[in-house]
Amino acid sequence: GVINGEFLQGSILVIRIQRQIENNQEISMNNSVSQELLKFLQKSPTAFHAVQQMKSELLAVDFTELKENQRWNIECGKHYFVTRNDSSLIAFTIPENGIDKMHILTSHSDSPTFKIKENPEIEVEKHYVKLNVEKYGGMLCAPWFDRPLSVAGRIIIKNTPNRQFTSKLVNIDRDLVMIPNLAIHMNREINNGYTYNAQKDLLPIYSCGSPKGTFMEQIAEAAGVEKEEILGHDLFLYNRQEGSVWGASKEFISSGRLDDLQCAFASLQGFLSGEKKDCMAVHCVLDNEEVGSGTKQGAASTFLFDTLIRVHEALGYDGEDYRVHLADSFMISADNAHAVHPNYTEKADPTNRPYLNEGIVLKFNANQKYCTDAVSAAMFRDLCKRADVPVQTFTNRSDMAGGSTLGNISNTQVALNTVDIGLPQLAMHSPYETAGVKDTEYLVRAAKEFFC
Ligand code: CO
Repeated sequence: GVINGEFLQGSILVIRIQRQIENNQEISMNNSVSQELLKFLQKSPTAFHAVQQMKSELLAVDFTELKENQRWNIECGKHYFVTRNDSSLIAFTIPENGIDKMHILTSHSDSPTFKIKENPEIEVEKHYVKLNVEKYGGMLCAPWFDRPLSVAGRIIIKNTPNRQFTSKLVNIDRDLVMIPNLAIHMNREINNGYTYNAQKDLLPIYSCGSPKGTFMEQIAEAAGVEKEEILGHDLFLYNRQEGSVWGASKEFISSGRLDDLQCAFASLQGFLSGEKKDCMAVHCVLDNEEVGSGTKQGAASTFLFDTLIRVHEALGYDGEDYRVHLADSFMISADNAHAVHPNYTEKADPTNRPYLNEGIVLKFNANQKYCTDAVSAAMFRDLCKRADVPVQTFTNRSDMAGGSTLGNISNTQVALNTVDIGLPQLAMHSPYETAGVKDTEYLVRAAKEFFC
């Protein structure tokens, strides 16, 4: 009896230690994925920077960059990427034996923010200079107040020797502007709700005591050019607060732009680590989802179609082959999802309740704002089972209109079986959003299985 008892206790101890080790492994893996994600977010204040980050990761593992304005030479067993507008990117690999189907994982590179207008400086009583900005996408306005912000984006110059237009990334990498609140004493009603006027309430202040005329100089200096050389600019505000992992057991991750760079990051990591033997693997990140996708580089554009058809033609396939392959292909449209909010539990659907850290969210909508149907849900659930990844479900309350995403828009150009998914998060479209540390790794794992 004693021996058995000791044996039993020993076994329990072994099991406990085993669990502890597994827990620790899980925590350290989630930690390293979270740290990598935070680095990526930190270096990606705008869609242009996110695409630049992905480009350099792809170049580092010998992907070949294709240009849309040159003929493409594509070989089986090789890997490539192409960008459009420097803000959308499609990376793909061709199996050794050619293409018979495509696995496409899409996400988006943009996030709601404020765009700097032309002639942005506004002088106020010869004492302040503020910047004229307009909204990009539908953001939560209040959290943009009273926090250090800066400016990033791209400028266009014309090179003198070859008379080519060149795009240069800009990031004023310091606290530069702020949108200060009005004191409570001057609006006692503020906490009872407020309608923000984008032209009055939301203009950031840039300087005090110095005359206007220096803003574009700062941009030029950051880009390493003369102010007069700048012929065009796409500049945006971004939140300076660095990302953070926090909570009782470090279970939360917060940062700007989790929607949708958390998915773009996980897609790329899964794409790079997958074997990519079975199918043409496509990592696709598109700009302008937050403003309806209707741009030359958005999901409503021909960018994905053009890329897939050009790859087919360059390999000697014809339009018939493309359509046959497409009918056997699958797309995952990944854009973050709403988790149940602890202060507003009534806002979530009564029977479909996603929580942070409990897995990838499968999104449903009867009116097909989300593409998920019985077929694509089944295929995605099967994929996650193979990858040992938990799946949750989201649908809007029947009395609430929800958001939309890029899956169904992309389907109007490239029509194939598609599932809409996302990672659960809180405070969507705030400049500081919150998600779960485990979920990024779940999507990396599912993407790796998808690109097997
Ligand atoms: Co999104």
